[in-house]
Amino acid sequence: MQNLLVTGGAGFIGSNFVRYTLAHTDAKITVLDNLTYAGNLASLDGLPTDRFSFVKGDICDESLVDGLVAAHDVVVHYAAESHNDNSLHDPRPFLDTNIIGTYTLIQAARKYQKRFHHISTDEVYGDLELDDPQRFTENTPYNPSSPYSSTKAGSDLLVRAWARSFGLQATISNCSNNYGPYQHVEKFIPRQISNVIDGIRPKLYGNGENVRDWIHADDHSSAVLAIIDRGEIGETYLIGADGEKNNKEVVQLILSQFGLVEDAFDQVIDRPGHDLRYAIDSSKLRRELGWSPQFSNFEAGLADTIAWYRENEAWWRPQKAATEAKYQEQGQ
Ligand code: NAD
Ligand code: TYD
Repeated sequence: MQNLLVTGGAGFIGSNFVRYTLAHTDAKITVLDNLTYAGNLASLDGLPTDRFSFVKGDICDESLVDGLVAAHDVVVHYAAESHNDNSLHDPRPFLDTNIIGTYTLIQAARKYQKRFHHISTDEVYGDLELDDPQRFTENTPYNPSSPYSSTKAGSDLLVRAWARSFGLQATISNCSNNYGPYQHVEKFIPRQISNVIDGIRPKLYGNGENVRDWIHADDHSSAVLAIIDRGEIGETYLIGADGEKNNKEVVQLILSQFGLVEDAFDQVIDRPGHDLRYAIDSSKLRRELGWSPQFSNFEAGLADTIAWYRENEAWWRPQKAATEAKYQEQGQ
């Protein structure tokens, strides 16, 4: 394998990809990450120094990006502002990082004719009715709802345009909601796990009927490796593991794994524009690249994740109080 430049590699999914790739291939990796509130160097502790290095910097920094892209074979682009709730309160950083940052990277990849893999989300497709028999496919029209998902949609469209107009050697993947270790406590599952550890009741937005299609971050990483290895240039692949659950079911599973009664949660103010349901049809990825998920049992994956948060309080504790203070201000 080759030299990979991984943007956003100090975040939740990027750091999973770095650990997964170092463990399963002989690739060398450089992470480019400017360590926003969501980046954490502790997520990259203990990696082999002969195959891994870290550069602190912004993906919008043209000269830094130019030099790094020139020196690597493949760019795997995870860096983003990633939290919907933040995007509703302060959209500007989403435009800077998700749009201008992606533009900066694809200009450099185009200049040096480098392979580029763009990481995106199923949220670009908007949402589905609860009883809709259809799931998202690669042909579903874009219809994003939030500043987060609209800037991710914009970044996908830039990559597609650069592929068509300038021959950028790009692939794109749109994945469903990830869970697993090293996820920031602002996100749904780690927020509720850390709340319960702290004796705070889990907080459900609205009636808790909203459905997300959960996939373990390791399965996302194995899919991205498959696409980099044997994906067709110019193609988009949806990544999902048939993990649909509504938010109330997830909270009740967490409560039951802590031995608590299943109604020990609070309902709080709903998110404005809250997408109702996401669901992925990943048959193209499975059929064309032979990929399949390893974590088929959500409850078992959730139990492992809970165990990780219990054992790694030092990793998340520094973010917890400020995160909850922000939610409290928002009535959530
Ligand atoms: P995260 O917020 O945990 O991590 C983002 C990382 O990017 C952080 O380390 C941060 O420091 C870095 N970063 C942000 N702005 C940067 C900039 N301007 N320059 C350099 N680095 C910067 O996010 P995540 O949940 O790991 O998501 C990673 C990617 O996967 C994103 O592109 C996201 O859209 C996509 N995605 C996430 C999910 C999910 O469930 N979390 C699902 C599908 C796709
Ligand atoms: P989140 O982890 O923010 O991911 P996304 O918005 O990208 O799907 O939220 C997942 C779901 O959980 C979403 O329907 C919003 C809901 N949610 C809650 O009910 N309570 C919470 O405290 C949070 C953070 C999210």
